[in-house]
Amino acid sequence: MKVLEAKFVQGFIRMCNDGWEQGWHERNGGNLTYRMKKEEVESIKEELRTDGVWKEIGTSVPKLAGEFFLVTGSGKYFRNVILAPEDSIAVVEIDGKGECYRICWGLVNGGRPTSELPSHLMNHEVKMQATGGKHRVIYHAHTTNVIALTFVLPLEDEVFTRELWEMATECPVVFPDGIGVVGWMVPGGRDIAVATSELMKKYDVAIWAHHGMFASGEDFDLTFGLMHTVEKSAEILVKMLSMRPDKLQTITPQNFRDLAVDFQVTLPERFLYEK
Ligand code: 13P
Ligand code: ZN
Repeated sequence: MKVLEAKFVQGFIRMCNDGWEQGWHERNGGNLTYRMKKEEVESIKEELRTDGVWKEIGTSVPKLAGEFFLVTGSGKYFRNVILAPEDSIAVVEIDGKGECYRICWGLVNGGRPTSELPSHLMNHEVKMQATGGKHRVIYHAHTTNVIALTFVLPLEDEVFTRELWEMATECPVVFPDGIGVVGWMVPGGRDIAVATSELMKKYDVAIWAHHGMFASGEDFDLTFGLMHTVEKSAEILVKMLSMRPDKLQTITPQNFRDLAVDFQVTLPERFLYEK
């Protein structure tokens, strides 16, 4: 099968475009990676090159040795992915040690995978382990309202989780484990990758202060839906804070406990503190 005919590739392209339409991907902002299934690799094998040069990832992900990923290219624009996927995205293979990658398809006009590849792969490694292989998608977006909130809320997991849960009743059902926050760091390197993947051991969402968000999920729908839910909640919070700085009424800690029973989720008590 041709790479561009594969269902997972079409799903990847659609998700890039959905993110663009949400306004989360100015210029080359944001990146997306997908850990391919064995049968998906097999199905497009005829188009995969095996003569690519091995390049260093910049970190070590031994548990991802031999895995194949579909990735967005560094400096590529999400708005162009749907028009010229073979120029904007790539299939990469990880070597036997988990230290190098090579391009097997795509980026036909040159270039390299996203500069956030270390963060993506370290997150993939953590989430693959934590979910018994279920999570396959890591998504980074420059979500406007979440970024705005990182200037006015304390950069604490408990505060972001609780404030965003309060903005929409179904939030604690969509992200019951909460949200982690990384203070401002230089993007693109190993240090921010280590900090983010540490949070991904506990959460499916990590916020990068003054930069954006990372989300992890099983498939494109769940991961996009998670990003969308968190960002919409942040939009409500921004609107609320713009109308008045305090709440006249809200969802209380006991309301959350009642919700948890009916929706069969476990909500950690550390997010249900008295204010
Ligand atoms: P890339 O174009 O290298 O993917 O970088 C975009 C970005 O959002 C960096 O954090
Ligand atoms: Zn970014």
